[in-house]
Amino acid sequence: MNYKAPRGTHDIFRINASRMSWLEQKAKVIFNRHGFEEVRTPAFEDAALFMRSIGQTTDIVEKEMYIFEDRKKRKLALRPEGTASLVRAFIEHRMDVSMPAGRFFYMGEMFRYERPQAGRYRQFHQIGAEFFGSSSPAADAEIIILAQDLLSSVGINKMNIYINSLGCEKCRPFFREALVKYLDSVRDLCEDCLRRLEKNPLRVLDCKTDSNKFTEVPRMSDYLCDCCKDNFNLTQSLLKSDGCNYTVDERLVRGLDYYTKTVFEIRSDAVGSQDALAAGGRYDNLIGELGGQDTPAVGFALGSERVLLAAQKTGFFDSFQESEKIFIAVADQELFSEAFSFALKAMRNGLKGNKNISVFGPVNGKSLTSQLKFADKIKAVKTIVFARTEFEDGKFLVKNMKDKTQTKVLISEF
Ligand code: HAM
Repeated sequence: MNYKAPRGTHDIFRINASRMSWLEQKAKVIFNRHGFEEVRTPAFEDAALFMRSIGQTTDIVEKEMYIFEDRKKRKLALRPEGTASLVRAFIEHRMDVSMPAGRFFYMGEMFRYERPQAGRYRQFHQIGAEFFGSSSPAADAEIIILAQDLLSSVGINKMNIYINSLGCEKCRPFFREALVKYLDSVRDLCEDCLRRLEKNPLRVLDCKTDSNKFTEVPRMSDYLCDCCKDNFNLTQSLLKSDGCNYTVDERLVRGLDYYTKTVFEIRSDAVGSQDALAAGGRYDNLIGELGGQDTPAVGFALGSERVLLAAQKTGFFDSFQESEKIFIAVADQELFSEAFSFALKAMRNGLKGNKNISVFGPVNGKSLTSQLKFADKIKAVKTIVFARTEFEDGKFLVKNMKDKTQTKVLISEF
């Protein structure tokens, strides 16, 4: 076969599929406790929705979106993130008017045409939460703590939380002006920085090549208006009161344009260069800009693949008990229907004293030798053999597949 999964995509199976489901289940329990309800939005949307919300001059919109035309020439895009879709749904279902508040979570595939490497894919999974309708710093703090708790729940206790305030439409223009003035004076900026300086100067602060040249760069904190300053201070004191360890990073700007005030990123040393496990922030203008009633909002998303990679590096999954595989075999084919009924009972109820099992077999019309070979192949721990002589005594044979010993056991004992 000449087909392979497209570059940057992966088949997730066996242990990795179980871990992904496990993480999603864990997240659902935590979201539920915080009062967040699930929303599932389409995997593709009108491309203009993302262009408008994420920003025309961001990397995502400029070079990473999967855009296509459908048969009716509609311009659509595979979602590169979940926030814009959730905001669209919130407005479309008039929740901005009927509830004016809401706490929602989502999980699913996102698509970005990035250069693939460990922890960076073209199709990846996010788990995210959006909190609409509160401008209180308590909402910012809750979202950051929620992201932190989710990571801790999968054993990631060593994480670095970086926060910053990007100000609002009142104070940010002054910072922007000072920044442009300063950057104009810096020599030999790289091509990316020169381009960003024109279109989106805040993003220059993000540059990996030039950032060490920005020694005298203006500080956003010197330009925040009183409201943004108070908001940021209170967010920090609430984080502190919960014992949250964070660092203020005045160069943290994020790659999406919708943010106002608080932004944050949670990174881990465990996952190499793609170290951002989760990120988010406040976006008070987006709902209004997309045609809804002005509604403040704050949220975050984590990358499931990266989080699972980090959890694995911490050894979190080492002690996980996988279910025990039990194979049901028939030595004498006339006992097939009894073996089949027994297998169904075990599938429905587990075995006495052992509920964490996966049941395989019986297989019709195969020799016992080939059934046992199959049991070995699937790494069964035990094989239960239905054989005529033992069955007449109300027993079957239980074969330990590791040391190959076997014992006769009363069927009623299982
Ligand atoms: P983001 O920083 O673009 O934010 O993505 C959030 C997380 O998704 C990242 O921290 C990373 O773990 C994961 N991620 C991003 N790109 C990739 C990739 N190519 N491969 C693997 N994982 C990736 C957002 O998407 C915002 N919507 C977050 C948000 C929600 N802000 C407010 N509400």
